[in-house]
Amino acid sequence: MLVLGIETSCDETAAAVLENGTRLRSNVIASQDEIHSQFGGIVPELAGRSHVERIHHIIETALKEAGVTLHDIDLIAATQGPGLVVSLLVGLNTAKALAYSLDIPVMGINHLEGHVLAIFLQEEVPFPFLALIVSGGHTDLCRVDGFGRYRILGRTRDDAAGESFDKVAKMLGLGFPGGPLIEKIARQGNAEAHNFPRAWLEKDSLDFSFSGLKTAVRNTLAKHQNGSPPAEEDIAAGFQEAVVEVLVRKSLTACRQESLKRIVVTGGVAANRYLKDRMTAAAQKEGIDVFVPKPVLCTDNAAMIACAGYYRFRDGLDSESDLFPLDAHPNLPL
Ligand code: KG4
Ligand code: ZN
Repeated sequence: MLVLGIETSCDETAAAVLENGTRLRSNVIASQDEIHSQFGGIVPELAGRSHVERIHHIIETALKEAGVTLHDIDLIAATQGPGLVVSLLVGLNTAKALAYSLDIPVMGINHLEGHVLAIFLQEEVPFPFLALIVSGGHTDLCRVDGFGRYRILGRTRDDAAGESFDKVAKMLGLGFPGGPLIEKIARQGNAEAHNFPRAWLEKDSLDFSFSGLKTAVRNTLAKHQNGSPPAEEDIAAGFQEAVVEVLVRKSLTACRQESLKRIVVTGGVAANRYLKDRMTAAAQKEGIDVFVPKPVLCTDNAAMIACAGYYRFRDGLDSESDLFPLDAHPNLPL
């Protein structure tokens, strides 16, 4: 079975061809970083316009790299939400038009389900497991009991983890997206040079809050405005340490509360090597296994959308389109 996946929820235009759920025949991603970097964040209108310009070429490239034509495709899976509506509409409407003209099924996929299932492109993780979804728009702890069986245990109350990386990178004048840039300079920094706060919230809470940390970084920079500025490597290292410590401790608390022995870390921030290493080391001490997709499957891609489409179709799970008409849903819950 060949699934064409299409992902345009934010600022990546992506298409992929997946065979029988596991064999990734192509995975094409066009980043818009050069368009948005000058603004230090994503400009929705520009993102939508760029998707329109690129989507056909990206799909054609994905088909060509896979060595197939549109007529070989059995199912089209496209991101339905959550995301920017002007971006979602482009991929979803392209998917609907193609499926209609080819007379094949089309499925709307929840972007977060795509992130959770990305690991299955790499290895099969036995259910149940805890998923930590850490991206530019989300920081969620989710119990996963099977395909289509998800229960959110905790989420951020303000900024997402990736968003805080992007905002701190902007304050330091590093560029966009900030995650990889912070990770890189943090390697040279002293994580203990500054005492940045960790928001644990109420006892045993599985929710997150990163806005106080962001403000603490801003205050530290402002305090030194007239003297010699603090080393940006130390700020980056201290900030990253604070985010990672909270993500690791809350993931382990969730595992204890839910009696889970496996953690899947996924989403753009999961591309962070320091997070992966710290999570793996801490979990090992409690006999918990950690699984992280390779970086290209952590950040936004269409392979994960094709993967989710494959399993939903295989297991006869209702597409979100049965709950909502197959339309873009910027706030689609998992
Ligand atoms: O999953 P993703 O590609 O898009 C969303 O669904 O949001 O995640 C993008 C986010 C950005 O905030 C980016 O800064 C962050 O992931 N990110 C990282 C790293 N690579 C990407 N954050 C920390 N370390 C990284 N290496
Ligand atoms: Zn994402």
